[in-house]
Amino acid sequence: MVEHSSDRRAFLRFLAASPVLAAAGLSSDWFSGLLSEPISAQEQNTYIIKTVREALNVFDFRAAARAKLSLPHFTEFDEGVFNQETQIADRNAYARYQLKVRRLLGISQVDQSTQLFGRTWESPLYLCPVGRLRAIHPDGNLAIAPAANRKRTLEIMSGTQDLEKVNQLRGEPVWICGGRPSAETIKRLESVGTPAYVWTVDTVGGGNQIGARAVQRAGVPNLERRNDARCSSCHDSEGRITLSDSMAEVIGALGSLRGNDTSTWADVRRVRDLTKMKLILKGVVAPEDAELAIKAGVDGIVVSTHAAHEDASGRGSLEWLPEVVAAVGGKIAVFHDSGIRSGADIFKALALGANAVGIGRAQAWSLASFGTEGVETVIELLRRELQVAMVQTGATSISRISKSMLIPVSGSVSSRMQ
Ligand SMILES: Cc1cc2nc3c(=O)[nH]c(=O)nc-3n(C[C@H](O)[C@H](O)[C@H](O)COP(=O)(O)O)c2cc1C
Repeated sequence: MVEHSSDRRAFLRFLAASPVLAAAGLSSDWFSGLLSEPISAQEQNTYIIKTVREALNVFDFRAAARAKLSLPHFTEFDEGVFNQETQIADRNAYARYQLKVRRLLGISQVDQSTQLFGRTWESPLYLCPVGRLRAIHPDGNLAIAPAANRKRTLEIMSGTQDLEKVNQLRGEPVWICGGRPSAETIKRLESVGTPAYVWTVDTVGGGNQIGARAVQRAGVPNLERRNDARCSSCHDSEGRITLSDSMAEVIGALGSLRGNDTSTWADVRRVRDLTKMKLILKGVVAPEDAELAIKAGVDGIVVSTHAAHEDASGRGSLEWLPEVVAAVGGKIAVFHDSGIRSGADIFKALALGANAVGIGRAQAWSLASFGTEGVETVIELLRRELQVAMVQTGATSISRISKSMLIPVSGSVSSRMQ
Protein backbone atom coordinates (compact mmCIF):
# COMPACT_ATOMS: atom_id res chain seq x y z
CA MET A 1 0.00 0.00 0.00
CA VAL A 2 2.87 2.37 0.76
CA GLU A 3 4.29 1.75 -2.70
CA HIS A 4 0.83 2.17 -4.21
CA SER A 5 0.39 5.54 -2.41
CA SER A 6 3.80 6.87 -3.36
CA ASP A 7 3.19 5.88 -6.98
CA ARG A 8 0.00 7.94 -6.97
CA ARG A 9 1.80 10.86 -5.31
CA ALA A 10 4.51 10.74 -8.00
CA PHE A 11 1.79 10.67 -10.62
CA LEU A 12 0.08 13.73 -9.07
CA ARG A 13 3.43 15.59 -9.10
CA PHE A 14 3.83 14.74 -12.75
CA LEU A 15 0.32 16.02 -13.45
CA ALA A 16 0.89 19.24 -11.49
CA ALA A 17 3.77 20.08 -13.81
CA SER A 18 2.02 18.95 -16.96
CA PRO A 19 0.45 21.12 -19.69
CA VAL A 20 -2.25 18.43 -19.87
CA LEU A 21 -3.81 20.04 -16.80
CA ALA A 22 -4.38 23.37 -18.50
CA ALA A 23 -5.77 21.59 -21.52
CA ALA A 24 -8.23 19.87 -19.21
CA GLY A 25 -9.25 23.22 -17.71
CA LEU A 26 -7.68 22.44 -14.30
CA SER A 27 -5.26 24.74 -12.53
CA SER A 28 -1.88 23.46 -11.44
CA ASP A 29 -2.40 25.43 -8.17
CA TRP A 30 -5.19 23.06 -7.32
CA PHE A 31 -2.87 20.11 -7.74
CA SER A 32 -0.05 21.81 -5.82
CA GLY A 33 -2.54 22.41 -3.00
CA LEU A 34 -3.33 18.75 -2.95
CA LEU A 35 0.33 17.89 -2.81
CA SER A 36 0.90 20.07 0.26
CA GLU A 37 -1.67 18.03 2.20
CA PRO A 38 -0.60 14.87 4.02
CA ILE A 39 -0.69 11.97 1.61
CA SER A 40 -3.58 10.28 3.43
CA ALA A 41 -5.91 13.28 3.23
CA GLN A 42 -4.87 13.87 -0.34
CA GLU A 43 -5.59 10.31 -1.37
CA GLN A 44 -8.92 10.25 0.35
CA ASN A 45 -9.97 13.45 -1.37
CA THR A 46 -9.10 12.13 -4.79
CA TYR A 47 -9.32 8.35 -4.69
CA ILE A 48 -12.60 6.45 -4.69
CA ILE A 49 -12.38 2.86 -3.48
CA LYS A 50 -13.95 0.30 -5.77
CA THR A 51 -14.18 -2.61 -3.33
CA VAL A 52 -14.50 -2.78 0.44
CA ARG A 53 -11.14 -4.53 0.59
CA GLU A 54 -9.49 -1.25 -0.39
CA ALA A 55 -11.01 0.64 2.56
CA LEU A 56 -8.40 2.04 4.93
CA ASN A 57 -10.71 3.90 7.30
CA VAL A 58 -14.27 5.26 7.49
CA PHE A 59 -13.44 8.28 5.32
CA ASP A 60 -12.92 6.01 2.32
CA PHE A 61 -16.61 5.11 2.66
CA ARG A 62 -17.53 8.79 2.89
CA ALA A 63 -15.71 9.53 -0.37
CA ALA A 64 -17.34 6.52 -2.04
CA ALA A 65 -20.79 7.60 -0.82
CA ARG A 66 -20.22 11.15 -2.03
CA ALA A 67 -19.28 9.85 -5.47
CA LYS A 68 -22.35 7.66 -5.65
CA LEU A 69 -25.19 9.74 -4.18
CA SER A 70 -26.98 12.72 -5.62
CA LEU A 71 -25.79 15.94 -4.01
CA PRO A 72 -28.96 16.64 -1.98
CA HIS A 73 -28.99 13.12 -0.54
CA PHE A 74 -25.31 13.20 0.35
CA THR A 75 -25.58 16.68 1.86
CA GLU A 76 -28.61 15.84 3.96
CA PHE A 77 -26.83 12.82 5.42
CA ASP A 78 -23.48 14.49 5.87
CA GLU A 79 -23.98 17.96 7.24
CA GLY A 80 -25.23 19.41 10.48
CA VAL A 81 -27.48 22.39 11.21
CA PHE A 82 -26.95 26.13 11.42
CA ASN A 83 -23.31 27.05 10.73
CA GLN A 84 -22.09 23.55 11.60
CA GLU A 85 -21.00 24.70 15.08
CA THR A 86 -22.23 21.55 16.83
CA GLN A 87 -20.89 19.23 14.15
CA ILE A 88 -17.43 20.83 14.33
CA ALA A 89 -17.55 20.69 18.14
CA ASP A 90 -18.59 17.03 17.96
CA ARG A 91 -15.50 16.16 15.95
CA ASN A 92 -13.05 18.47 17.74
CA ALA A 93 -13.99 17.04 21.14
CA TYR A 94 -12.16 13.78 20.37
CA ALA A 95 -8.99 15.70 19.49
CA ARG A 96 -9.01 17.16 23.01
CA TYR A 97 -7.81 13.83 24.35
CA GLN A 98 -4.79 11.74 23.48
CA LEU A 99 -4.20 8.12 24.40
CA LYS A 100 -1.63 7.32 27.08
CA VAL A 101 0.13 4.51 25.26
CA ARG A 102 2.46 2.24 27.22
CA ARG A 103 5.32 0.01 26.12
CA LEU A 104 6.53 -3.51 26.87
CA LEU A 105 3.17 -4.64 28.17
CA GLY A 106 3.47 -8.04 26.54
CA ILE A 107 -0.14 -8.19 25.26
CA SER A 108 -1.54 -8.66 21.78
CA GLN A 109 -5.11 -9.76 22.44
CA VAL A 110 -7.94 -7.93 24.18
CA ASP A 111 -11.51 -8.78 25.06
CA GLN A 112 -14.09 -6.32 23.70
CA SER A 113 -17.10 -8.13 25.15
CA THR A 114 -19.58 -5.73 26.71
CA GLN A 115 -22.45 -6.19 29.14
CA LEU A 116 -25.68 -4.30 28.50
CA PHE A 117 -28.76 -5.03 30.59
CA GLY A 118 -27.42 -8.48 31.50
CA ARG A 119 -26.64 -9.46 27.91
CA THR A 120 -23.15 -9.91 26.56
CA TRP A 121 -22.26 -8.31 23.20
CA GLU A 122 -19.04 -8.95 21.27
CA SER A 123 -18.13 -5.27 21.25
CA PRO A 124 -19.34 -1.94 22.70
CA LEU A 125 -19.80 -0.64 19.14
CA TYR A 126 -23.44 -0.46 18.02
CA LEU A 127 -25.41 0.81 15.02
CA CYS A 128 -27.35 4.03 15.69
CA PRO A 129 -30.87 4.56 14.38
CA VAL A 130 -30.67 6.34 11.03
CA GLY A 131 -33.92 7.40 9.35
CA ARG A 132 -34.62 7.61 5.62
CA LEU A 133 -31.98 4.98 4.77
CA ARG A 134 -33.86 4.19 1.57
CA ALA A 135 -32.77 7.59 0.33
CA ILE A 136 -29.25 6.20 0.08
CA HIS A 137 -29.78 2.47 -0.48
CA PRO A 138 -32.83 0.81 -2.06
CA ASP A 139 -33.09 -1.79 0.75
CA GLY A 140 -32.51 0.57 3.69
CA ASN A 141 -32.73 -1.29 7.00
CA LEU A 142 -33.12 -4.61 5.18
CA ALA A 143 -29.48 -4.21 4.13
CA ILE A 144 -28.31 -3.22 7.62
CA ALA A 145 -29.84 -6.16 9.51
CA PRO A 146 -27.77 -8.95 7.84
CA ALA A 147 -24.58 -6.99 8.63
CA ALA A 148 -25.62 -6.62 12.28
CA ASN A 149 -26.45 -10.33 12.31
CA ARG A 150 -23.15 -11.50 10.85
CA LYS A 151 -21.13 -9.16 13.05
CA ARG A 152 -23.34 -9.91 16.09
CA THR A 153 -23.76 -6.19 16.66
CA LEU A 154 -26.48 -4.31 18.51
CA GLU A 155 -28.73 -2.62 15.95
CA ILE A 156 -31.13 0.17 16.81
CA MET A 157 -33.58 0.78 13.99
CA SER A 158 -35.31 4.10 13.33
CA GLY A 159 -39.04 3.51 12.96
CA THR A 160 -40.87 0.25 12.43
CA GLN A 161 -40.94 -0.15 8.64
CA ASP A 162 -40.42 -3.81 7.65
CA LEU A 163 -40.09 -4.66 11.36
CA GLU A 164 -40.81 -8.39 11.08
CA LYS A 165 -38.55 -8.81 8.05
CA VAL A 166 -35.75 -6.83 9.69
CA ASN A 167 -35.99 -8.98 12.83
CA GLN A 168 -35.85 -12.09 10.68
CA LEU A 169 -32.74 -10.87 8.84
CA ARG A 170 -31.16 -9.77 12.11
CA GLY A 171 -31.88 -13.17 13.65
CA GLU A 172 -33.48 -11.58 16.73
CA PRO A 173 -35.63 -8.52 17.50
CA VAL A 174 -33.80 -5.24 16.97
CA TRP A 175 -34.12 -2.31 19.35
CA ILE A 176 -36.51 0.32 18.04
CA CYS A 177 -36.10 4.09 18.05
CA GLY A 178 -38.73 6.74 17.48
CA GLY A 179 -40.62 9.59 19.07
CA ARG A 180 -43.03 9.36 22.02
CA PRO A 181 -44.54 5.90 21.55
CA SER A 182 -48.31 5.35 21.65
CA ALA A 183 -49.82 2.47 23.66
CA GLU A 184 -50.55 0.80 20.32
CA THR A 185 -46.93 1.01 19.17
CA ILE A 186 -45.73 -0.36 22.50
CA LYS A 187 -48.15 -3.28 22.20
CA ARG A 188 -46.97 -4.07 18.68
CA LEU A 189 -43.29 -3.88 19.62
CA GLU A 190 -43.79 -6.02 22.72
CA SER A 191 -45.69 -8.60 20.68
CA VAL A 192 -42.58 -9.23 18.52
CA GLY A 193 -40.24 -9.32 21.52
CA THR A 194 -38.57 -5.92 21.08
CA PRO A 195 -36.12 -5.70 24.00
CA ALA A 196 -35.75 -1.92 24.16
CA TYR A 197 -37.41 1.28 22.99
CA VAL A 198 -35.14 4.25 22.34
CA TRP A 199 -37.12 7.48 22.53
CA THR A 200 -35.51 10.36 20.67
CA VAL A 201 -36.07 13.45 22.79
CA ASP A 202 -33.87 15.93 20.97
CA THR A 203 -35.96 16.77 17.90
CA VAL A 204 -37.17 19.98 19.47
CA GLY A 205 -37.65 23.27 17.69
CA GLY A 206 -36.28 22.13 14.32
CA GLY A 207 -32.85 22.61 12.85
CA ASN A 208 -31.81 24.85 10.01
CA GLN A 209 -29.86 22.46 7.82
CA ILE A 210 -27.93 25.02 5.84
CA GLY A 211 -26.17 22.56 3.56
CA ALA A 212 -29.32 20.97 2.21
CA ARG A 213 -31.06 24.31 1.97
CA ALA A 214 -28.12 25.83 0.11
CA VAL A 215 -28.44 23.01 -2.41
CA GLN A 216 -32.12 23.89 -2.65
CA ARG A 217 -31.41 27.59 -3.14
CA ALA A 218 -28.71 27.12 -5.76
CA GLY A 219 -30.73 24.59 -7.74
CA VAL A 220 -28.96 21.39 -8.68
CA PRO A 221 -28.87 20.06 -12.21
CA ASN A 222 -29.35 16.34 -12.79
CA LEU A 223 -31.07 15.74 -9.47
CA GLU A 224 -32.10 12.32 -10.64
CA ARG A 225 -28.49 11.33 -11.34
CA ARG A 226 -27.94 7.73 -10.23
CA ASN A 227 -30.99 7.94 -8.08
CA ASP A 228 -32.12 4.51 -6.92
CA ALA A 229 -33.72 5.87 -3.78
CA ARG A 230 -36.87 4.33 -2.35
CA CYS A 231 -37.29 6.62 0.65
CA SER A 232 -40.98 7.21 1.20
CA SER A 233 -40.33 10.78 2.41
CA CYS A 234 -40.08 11.77 -1.27
CA HIS A 235 -40.52 8.67 -3.51
CA ASP A 236 -43.11 6.09 -4.43
CA SER A 237 -42.24 2.40 -4.61
CA GLU A 238 -40.91 2.83 -8.15
CA GLY A 239 -38.56 5.62 -7.09
CA ARG A 240 -40.62 8.41 -8.70
CA ILE A 241 -40.74 11.66 -6.74
CA THR A 242 -44.22 11.90 -5.29
CA LEU A 243 -44.17 15.51 -4.17
CA SER A 244 -44.63 18.46 -6.42
CA ASP A 245 -41.49 20.19 -5.07
CA SER A 246 -38.10 19.28 -6.42
CA MET A 247 -36.18 16.83 -4.28
CA ALA A 248 -33.76 19.54 -3.18
CA GLU A 249 -36.66 21.60 -1.85
CA VAL A 250 -38.06 18.62 0.01
CA ILE A 251 -34.75 17.70 1.57
CA GLY A 252 -34.10 21.29 2.51
CA ALA A 253 -37.47 21.32 4.21
CA LEU A 254 -36.74 18.07 6.04
CA GLY A 255 -33.68 19.73 7.44
CA SER A 256 -35.54 22.72 8.77
CA LEU A 257 -39.06 21.66 9.60
CA ARG A 258 -38.60 18.54 11.69
CA GLY A 259 -38.53 18.87 15.46
CA ASN A 260 -42.02 19.54 16.70
CA ASP A 261 -41.87 17.35 19.82
CA THR A 262 -43.50 19.00 22.85
CA SER A 263 -43.19 16.04 25.25
CA THR A 264 -42.43 16.55 28.95
CA TRP A 265 -41.02 14.48 31.83
CA ALA A 266 -44.61 13.63 32.78
CA ASP A 267 -44.92 11.90 29.38
CA VAL A 268 -41.74 9.94 30.09
CA ARG A 269 -43.20 8.70 33.37
CA ARG A 270 -46.45 7.72 31.60
CA VAL A 271 -44.56 5.75 28.92
CA ARG A 272 -42.41 4.15 31.62
CA ASP A 273 -45.56 2.80 33.25
CA LEU A 274 -46.87 1.49 29.91
CA THR A 275 -44.03 -0.86 29.00
CA LYS A 276 -41.76 -3.58 30.26
CA MET A 277 -39.29 -2.95 27.41
CA LYS A 278 -36.10 -1.23 28.44
CA LEU A 279 -36.72 2.49 27.97
CA ILE A 280 -33.84 4.65 26.80
CA LEU A 281 -33.94 8.40 26.14
CA LYS A 282 -31.79 9.47 23.20
CA GLY A 283 -30.32 12.94 23.06
CA VAL A 284 -29.93 13.71 26.77
CA VAL A 285 -26.87 15.92 27.21
CA ALA A 286 -27.31 18.16 30.27
CA PRO A 287 -26.43 16.44 33.58
CA GLU A 288 -29.61 17.93 35.12
CA ASP A 289 -31.66 16.06 32.51
CA ALA A 290 -29.73 12.86 33.22
CA GLU A 291 -30.82 13.15 36.86
CA LEU A 292 -34.43 13.75 35.82
CA ALA A 293 -34.22 10.69 33.53
CA ILE A 294 -33.19 8.53 36.48
CA LYS A 295 -36.09 9.95 38.53
CA ALA A 296 -38.48 9.15 35.67
CA GLY A 297 -37.38 5.52 35.86
CA VAL A 298 -35.73 5.03 32.48
CA ASP A 299 -33.10 2.32 31.98
CA GLY A 300 -30.61 4.32 29.97
CA ILE A 301 -29.79 7.50 28.11
CA VAL A 302 -27.90 8.24 24.91
CA VAL A 303 -25.56 11.21 25.12
CA SER A 304 -25.88 12.50 21.57
CA THR A 305 -26.24 15.62 19.46
CA HIS A 306 -28.25 13.61 16.90
CA ALA A 307 -25.36 13.96 14.43
CA ALA A 308 -25.70 17.73 14.95
CA HIS A 309 -28.86 17.43 12.84
CA GLU A 310 -31.03 19.33 15.31
CA ASP A 311 -28.80 20.53 18.14
CA ALA A 312 -28.00 24.25 18.30
CA SER A 313 -25.73 24.03 21.36
CA GLY A 314 -22.37 24.31 19.60
CA ARG A 315 -21.14 21.78 22.19
CA GLY A 316 -19.78 18.39 21.25
CA SER A 317 -21.44 15.23 22.53
CA LEU A 318 -18.15 14.05 24.07
CA GLU A 319 -17.88 17.34 25.99
CA TRP A 320 -21.14 16.59 27.78
CA LEU A 321 -20.29 12.95 28.45
CA PRO A 322 -18.11 13.19 31.64
CA GLU A 323 -20.68 15.47 33.32
CA VAL A 324 -23.52 13.12 32.46
CA VAL A 325 -21.56 10.06 33.62
CA ALA A 326 -20.86 11.80 36.94
CA ALA A 327 -24.54 12.71 37.38
CA VAL A 328 -25.68 9.17 36.55
CA GLY A 329 -23.20 7.55 38.93
CA GLY A 330 -23.68 4.09 37.39
CA LYS A 331 -27.43 3.98 38.17
CA ILE A 332 -28.48 3.57 34.52
CA ALA A 333 -26.71 2.75 31.24
CA VAL A 334 -25.02 5.58 29.33
CA PHE A 335 -24.78 5.21 25.55
CA HIS A 336 -22.80 7.67 23.46
CA ASP A 337 -22.70 8.77 19.83
CA SER A 338 -21.98 11.75 17.51
CA GLY A 339 -18.69 12.23 15.72
CA ILE A 340 -17.28 8.70 16.05
CA ARG A 341 -14.92 8.11 13.11
CA SER A 342 -12.29 5.74 14.53
CA GLY A 343 -11.55 3.08 17.13
CA ALA A 344 -9.56 5.68 19.08
CA ASP A 345 -12.72 7.84 19.23
CA ILE A 346 -14.63 4.86 20.61
CA PHE A 347 -11.88 4.24 23.15
CA LYS A 348 -12.05 7.88 24.34
CA ALA A 349 -15.83 7.72 24.85
CA LEU A 350 -15.50 4.45 26.79
CA ALA A 351 -12.69 5.93 28.89
CA LEU A 352 -14.96 8.87 29.77
CA GLY A 353 -17.60 6.46 31.02
CA ALA A 354 -19.85 5.40 28.13
CA ASN A 355 -21.15 1.82 28.30
CA ALA A 356 -21.57 1.50 24.53
CA VAL A 357 -20.73 3.70 21.54
CA GLY A 358 -22.70 4.14 18.30
CA ILE A 359 -22.08 5.12 14.68
CA GLY A 360 -24.56 6.96 12.44
CA ARG A 361 -22.79 8.55 9.47
CA ALA A 362 -20.06 5.89 9.23
CA GLN A 363 -22.86 3.34 8.99
CA ALA A 364 -24.74 5.40 6.37
CA TRP A 365 -21.63 6.07 4.23
CA SER A 366 -20.77 2.36 4.16
CA LEU A 367 -24.37 1.37 3.38
CA ALA A 368 -24.63 3.92 0.57
CA SER A 369 -21.37 2.85 -1.04
CA PHE A 370 -21.27 -0.94 -0.60
CA GLY A 371 -24.54 -2.07 1.02
CA THR A 372 -24.43 -4.87 3.60
CA GLU A 373 -20.80 -5.67 2.86
CA GLY A 374 -19.85 -2.05 3.46
CA VAL A 375 -21.56 -1.98 6.87
CA GLU A 376 -19.87 -5.24 7.88
CA THR A 377 -16.50 -3.85 6.84
CA VAL A 378 -16.97 -0.62 8.79
CA ILE A 379 -17.87 -2.59 11.92
CA GLU A 380 -14.82 -4.81 11.42
CA LEU A 381 -12.53 -1.85 10.74
CA LEU A 382 -13.63 0.11 13.82
CA ARG A 383 -13.36 -2.96 16.03
CA ARG A 384 -9.82 -3.54 14.81
CA GLU A 385 -8.92 0.10 15.47
CA LEU A 386 -10.42 -0.17 18.96
CA GLN A 387 -8.34 -3.29 19.53
CA VAL A 388 -5.16 -1.38 18.64
CA ALA A 389 -6.08 1.41 21.08
CA MET A 390 -6.73 -1.15 23.81
CA VAL A 391 -3.50 -3.08 23.22
CA GLN A 392 -1.41 0.10 23.14
CA THR A 393 -2.90 1.48 26.36
CA GLY A 394 -2.82 -1.88 28.11
CA ALA A 395 -6.61 -2.17 28.49
CA THR A 396 -7.12 -5.90 28.11
CA SER A 397 -10.90 -5.66 28.54
CA ILE A 398 -13.59 -3.00 28.17
CA SER A 399 -14.00 -2.70 31.93
CA ARG A 400 -10.27 -1.96 32.26
CA ILE A 401 -10.52 1.12 30.00
CA SER A 402 -10.28 4.15 32.27
CA LYS A 403 -9.96 7.90 32.22
CA SER A 404 -6.34 7.55 33.41
CA MET A 405 -5.55 6.20 29.93
CA LEU A 406 -6.39 9.60 28.40
CA ILE A 407 -4.29 12.75 28.39
CA PRO A 408 -6.36 15.95 28.05
CA VAL A 409 -5.00 18.43 25.50
CA SER A 410 -4.82 22.00 26.74
CA GLY A 411 -5.26 24.87 24.32
CA SER A 412 -6.79 24.80 20.88
CA VAL A 413 -6.93 21.73 18.66
CA SER A 414 -6.87 21.54 14.90
CA SER A 415 -10.41 21.70 13.55
CA ARG A 416 -11.94 18.53 12.09
CA MET A 417 -15.09 18.77 10.09
CA GLN A 418 -16.21 15.41 8.70
C1 LIG B 1 -29.11 10.92 8.01
C2 LIG B 1 -29.32 10.69 9.46
C3 LIG B 1 -30.56 10.30 9.90
C4 LIG B 1 -30.76 10.10 11.27
N1 LIG B 1 -31.98 9.68 11.70
C5 LIG B 1 -32.20 9.51 13.02
C6 LIG B 1 -33.47 9.09 13.50
O1 LIG B 1 -34.37 8.80 12.72
N2 LIG B 1 -33.65 8.99 14.84
C7 LIG B 1 -32.63 9.28 15.72
O2 LIG B 1 -32.82 9.20 16.92
N3 LIG B 1 -31.42 9.66 15.29
C8 LIG B 1 -31.17 9.77 13.98
N4 LIG B 1 -29.93 10.15 13.55
C9 LIG B 1 -28.87 10.36 14.52
C10 LIG B 1 -28.09 9.07 14.80
O3 LIG B 1 -28.88 8.12 15.48
C11 LIG B 1 -26.86 9.35 15.67
O4 LIG B 1 -27.24 10.02 16.83
C12 LIG B 1 -25.80 10.16 14.93
O5 LIG B 1 -25.80 9.89 13.55
C13 LIG B 1 -24.42 9.89 15.50
O6 LIG B 1 -23.48 10.77 14.97
P1 LIG B 1 -22.53 10.38 13.75
O7 LIG B 1 -23.38 10.44 12.53
O8 LIG B 1 -21.50 11.44 13.77
O9 LIG B 1 -21.99 9.00 14.02
C14 LIG B 1 -29.70 10.31 12.19
C15 LIG B 1 -28.43 10.67 11.71
C16 LIG B 1 -28.23 10.85 10.36
C17 LIG B 1 -26.84 11.21 9.88
